[in-house]
Amino acid sequence: MIYRPSSHNIKNAAHIIGLGEVVAFPTETVYGLGADAFNEQAVQKIFGLKGRPSYNPLIVHLAETDQIEEVAWFQRGSKVHETLKKLYRFWPGPLSVVLPRHPLVPDCVTGGLNTVAVRIPAHPVARDFLKACNTPIAAPSANKSSYISPTTAEHVYEEFGEKVAIIIDGGKCEVGLESTVISIVNDVPVILRPGYITREQLEDALGEVKQVSYTVPSRPESPGMLSKHYAPKTKVVLKKNIDPGNLPKKIGFISFGPAGSGEPDIPLTVRDNLSSSGDLEEVAENLYDALRKQDKMGLDLIVVDTCDKTGLGAAIMDRLTRACAD
Ligand code: TXA
Ligand code: MG
Repeated sequence: MIYRPSSHNIKNAAHIIGLGEVVAFPTETVYGLGADAFNEQAVQKIFGLKGRPSYNPLIVHLAETDQIEEVAWFQRGSKVHETLKKLYRFWPGPLSVVLPRHPLVPDCVTGGLNTVAVRIPAHPVARDFLKACNTPIAAPSANKSSYISPTTAEHVYEEFGEKVAIIIDGGKCEVGLESTVISIVNDVPVILRPGYITREQLEDALGEVKQVSYTVPSRPESPGMLSKHYAPKTKVVLKKNIDPGNLPKKIGFISFGPAGSGEPDIPLTVRDNLSSSGDLEEVAENLYDALRKQDKMGLDLIVVDTCDKTGLGAAIMDRLTRACAD
């Protein structure tokens, strides 16, 4: 059931976490499906609900930076610690940092890797919930494996119905795309998943930062970054890749600019404009809702606009490229 984020409901949700159950909660990026990171059976329930492969690790969510050493393992003053401190400016916020793991973190959280991804979200409801839980919360996005991440409580309900007993409603997620994932375990930090915190911002904080390429190897460093991901059931194609000689009947178009702008010269059944001013922040915020909406309309094809892969555009085009993958 969907619950409003009253302090009573948040306390109750935290109590349920203590009993080893899962709770869906809002963050500023997307909704998460959370369980006590130190309770292996509880974490296994997340994998079961999502149909997620066990090798794909989860992000551990914390209320405060002083909890990091409960889940990560590094020497004070080490290079990892110094780099981590430079990233504190982005927390609380839409950034997940991959660190060497603490030996007490269960294997199912890390997919058996010797690293752990950590995030301190900024959404006030997430913060209240995490504080009330008083334990690190392992949480992937609250959607079935490979489908589009949820950006409203209703999206979560569409995915799981009553199988998730408590969905805390925090309204529409403001960022709308999953967090940036950066690994700082090696000499040069590597962006494993682009997001709202851009490469430019990370380079400003850290100096040189690498970015894993869009062509995903068969054994990717970040196992969630398999090519087919974030994908509607309907076939999706980028506007620049439309094959005009081979058009199906019912086509939806999702444009980044104002109504009518950049529309391909093909018959369209439905159109959604994500931002009347072409603002990429607004595009990111509205993208998943539009994809979900058009995916429910029985269309043969969804055509999406494109933007430059700089700044936030890198994350938007990353998700769309994956949504289009076969
Ligand atoms: O915005 C977000 O990050 C949302 C909210 C709920 O926090 N969570 C989210 O989780 O998107 P999920 O599980 O859908 O994606 C987590 C990503 C995956 O690509 C996973 O492979 C990667 O983070 N990841 C997690 N732990 C990792 C690790 N130890 N090393 C490398 N990649 C890791
Ligand atoms: Mg996900």
